[in-house]
Amino acid sequence: MSLLEVTDLQVSFPTADGLVQAVRGVSFGVERGRTLGIVGESGSGKTVLTQSLLGLTPGGRISGKAMFDGVNLVGLPNNQMREIRGKEIAVIFQDPLTSLHPLYTVGWQIVEMIRSHERSISKAQATERAIELLGHVGIPRPRERVSDYPHQFSGGMRQRAMIAMAISLNPKLIIADEPTTALDATVQAQILDLLLRLQQDSDTALLMITHDLGVVADIADNVMVMYAGRAAEKATKRDIFYQPHHPYTKGLLESIPHSSAAGDRLIPITGQPPSLIRLPPGCAFHPRCAYVMDRCLSDQPGLVAVGDPNRAAPASMGYSDAAQPTSDGLGGQSWRTLDEAPLAAPTAGSAASPGPIGDHRSACWLPADATGLSEKVEAVRVQAVEMGRTGKAAKIAEAIAAAPESEGSVIA
Ligand SMILES: Nc1ncnc2c1ncn2[C@@H]1O[C@H](COP(=O)(O)OP(=O)(O)OP(=O)(O)O)[C@@H](O)[C@H]1O
Ligand code: SF4
Ligand SMILES: [Mg+2]
Repeated sequence: MSLLEVTDLQVSFPTADGLVQAVRGVSFGVERGRTLGIVGESGSGKTVLTQSLLGLTPGGRISGKAMFDGVNLVGLPNNQMREIRGKEIAVIFQDPLTSLHPLYTVGWQIVEMIRSHERSISKAQATERAIELLGHVGIPRPRERVSDYPHQFSGGMRQRAMIAMAISLNPKLIIADEPTTALDATVQAQILDLLLRLQQDSDTALLMITHDLGVVADIADNVMVMYAGRAAEKATKRDIFYQPHHPYTKGLLESIPHSSAAGDRLIPITGQPPSLIRLPPGCAFHPRCAYVMDRCLSDQPGLVAVGDPNRAAPASMGYSDAAQPTSDGLGGQSWRTLDEAPLAAPTAGSAASPGPIGDHRSACWLPADATGLSEKVEAVRVQAVEMGRTGKAAKIAEAIAAAPESEGSVIA
């Protein structure tokens, strides 16, 4: 049973220009001690999705279900939500400066966080805990630094302080929204390493929101790729990197450095994400999709199981030792480790037994066996497109092929 099980979550915002459909029927689960990476371009709904779980989308219309440890977060009264926010579910944002109050010391803020949920604890006890936590997340001389103001910390230290605050109440789930985007590569790697270590120590579940597939390679167990407020593809990390089905996922892989999908050069995804007020009919990705077919213009694909159900998959949606990305804080290096690692060979009766059917889902009309990056799989895609494309879809495909690369977006 997942710690968090979200079903058909929808979030929209009425605005003067029309209804912004920020999240359009998203379902996912995350288990204790596991990490779900949520990736997608800017504006795909990643932040709204997670903020809505915590009642932090004022003015938003929310429907669906989000069962967290037996409690439905959707529609939860404010007083109950306050008990869960911070204590049961902690959030780490991209920019700690917006979350840390500039006029209070870091230590005071951690103490307040602890005391707001554990009222019986004294100030002195909470301060001791804050010092311990700062030491735990790698702040040097924590007994002295506990009295510093946020501006006296470096960017990496502020993010460590945010993590200390996030773990101060032993949350069951941490939502990290682009926690390393503002940091340089070395500090980013250290922070990811820290999150992994803390997670392993305490069996915390982690929702890692990022636009960076390198971060996903470092830290996630499973991945949900979002496009225009919907899940385009959901799979184990391994399947997302080696067996992508959705052309948008394939596009993300091709647009990042060091990926075998990208080859020698980065291929931007043509065009820009759509307006969430005026979404394209059918598949929302169709104006940018090189594989666009006739039915894509009118029929919206649902998430269905893809891939070969008889293919061997590593146990527990994990990895062979060879393919396990390192968590040694090497950032892009770790990503290359995953990239170059071979697929685990199928071994009858071994840990590499077939994974549960349906783990890998994609919302795309291409055939279910069009997963992967090989020429053979490309031939399957091309054949489907040849059979399914005439008039209008052919014109869109021509326009996409002719579009200058500068009009596309590179995600990394
Ligand atoms: N309060 C609001 N009112 C109207 N529209 C909103 C509101 N909050 C978010 N949106 C819109 O919802 C969409 C999804 O935004 P969201 O912040 O979730 O994207 P994101 O995937 O997190 O992007 P980024 O990678 O840039 O952080 C955007 O089009 C955004 O403009
Ligand atoms: S449904 Fe059609 S347009 Fe959408 S991603 Fe698949 S092939 Fe492309
Ligand atoms: Mg965001």
